[in-house]
Amino acid sequence: MEKIILDVDTGIDDALAILLAVESGKLDLLGITTVNGNVPLDYVIKNTKKVLKHAGKESINVYKGANRPILIEPFHEYSVHGDDGMGGALKSVEVDTEDVPDIFAPDFIIEQAKRHQGELTLIMVGPLTNLALAIRKEPLLATWVKQVVVMGGLVSEAGKGNTLPTSEFNIYADAEAAKIVFHSGIPLKLVSLDVTKKTIITSKDIEKLKGTHYYDFVKECTAVYRKYSEENYGINGCALHDPLTVGVVLDPTLVKTASYFVDVETKSELSYGQTICDFGNLWGKEPNVEICLEVDSERFISMFIKTLKNTNN
Ligand code: BDR
Ligand code: CA
Repeated sequence: MEKIILDVDTGIDDALAILLAVESGKLDLLGITTVNGNVPLDYVIKNTKKVLKHAGKESINVYKGANRPILIEPFHEYSVHGDDGMGGALKSVEVDTEDVPDIFAPDFIIEQAKRHQGELTLIMVGPLTNLALAIRKEPLLATWVKQVVVMGGLVSEAGKGNTLPTSEFNIYADAEAAKIVFHSGIPLKLVSLDVTKKTIITSKDIEKLKGTHYYDFVKECTAVYRKYSEENYGINGCALHDPLTVGVVLDPTLVKTASYFVDVETKSELSYGQTICDFGNLWGKEPNVEICLEVDSERFISMFIKTLKNTNN
């Protein structure tokens, strides 16, 4: 089984990514690290623990990570994820947010990567602050991990961002961190908005979960996100950005990829957090990122529904 650390800013689609990871039965989840992002860190920890409790996987440790970006002020995404980050779902579930291991998430990442050299995959579905801090503290980390799969950025469809016209939320929310990661030499696969926005779960898809343990949760937590997507993008459903990123680790053939040099804009007010892909090799640099060009969204949505249906819960 593939050894994994999942880094989250839970978040509605982060919650669904956690469910896909724990229910796949194919990933050895060493722990979940948390980061400030969609909502402040305390909420992220609370939401992550609630999701694990709902899945009956409370034995998976949740690690406390960065509570703010490296340089900029925190920026949250309440309009997409609701005030609590989960559209009000699992409101009555009680968890102890103080009961977390006494190790900072970036240190946990370093420790595990050192222990499992060449075997550990990091799945990053929030801002890249924890990983950047880890790389700064231990540059050898870049040579220890097997791969880092990141939900973030947009490369082909400049102008169609979800935070600025040029920028995607996870990169925008800590572009300095992303810059550190992209320049570190760590093996990177970028599951960007270009492909994630094509993986739409519709109300009809959700109805396929009727009668299962996760039906109410998926329906309830996505309601606010589906409403937002309909009002802003005219979509009937919502995009499974973070679950697709887990999906790509479970089945890399879901996407077609190619390698290029990609850099992150950190100086411009107009395009802060833009991921710029040098398709024409004008900068003459070695590729540093495997980007996703196409996705088989139908196959992914089926995988997602099937996994949540076939659970022992
Ligand atoms: C990303 O931003 C967050 O709002 C989602 O959880 C996802 O990780 C999409 O741009
Ligand atoms: Ca996220």
